[in-house]
Amino acid sequence: MGKDSRSLQDLIENNRKWSKEISEKDPDFFPTLAKQQSPDYLWIGCSDSRVPANEIVGLLPGELFVHRNVANMVVHTDMNLLSVLQYAVEVLKVKHIIVCGHYGCGGVKASMENQKLGLIDNWILEIRDLYYNKRDMFNGLQTDEAKLNLLCELNVVRQVHNLSHTSIVQDAWANGQKLAIHGWIYGLTDGRLNNLNVTVNESKQLSETYRLDIDKQD
Ligand code: CO
Repeated sequence: MGKDSRSLQDLIENNRKWSKEISEKDPDFFPTLAKQQSPDYLWIGCSDSRVPANEIVGLLPGELFVHRNVANMVVHTDMNLLSVLQYAVEVLKVKHIIVCGHYGCGGVKASMENQKLGLIDNWILEIRDLYYNKRDMFNGLQTDEAKLNLLCELNVVRQVHNLSHTSIVQDAWANGQKLAIHGWIYGLTDGRLNNLNVTVNESKQLSETYRLDIDKQD
């Protein structure tokens, strides 16, 4: 489908069809959903248009709370992310947080290059730090693609750790709330998700430096 082949009116018509199809299958779907949402999952993903959160995990409206930004970052001073996180954890009481990166991420790629892009260079600076600090891991890799994909994975792991270090997540654990943070990565070329198996679900898994629940006087 070409870039200009859809007008805004097409989008509204698509919406009418979508709404009609769902309502025909289940007339109570929208009225029930309008009363409350109770998603079990918070998704933190990249803004990339090729990684539509609900679609790739087959979840309906009401089932996935979503935050997306360039390169699926968890920046500790980002009020937007922190507000989403606090609401999801403390009010909606989601059981799982999925940080989902994707191979071929433009934000990650930019952090490996020296071209000046502007404001966004600051946003992705933590990925550049990661690339620099983990530079030894990249030595054996032959292609730019392999290097980019490794950094995409390392970035997901980093953001899982960043999330687990927040006071919001640590408070939830301290209160006995079940909450697991997972790192996944999505392949643009095959549409498949892979679990990076870096799940964190208790403060004991954190390095002592980051733990907020240790009474040093004990
Ligand atoms: Co991306």
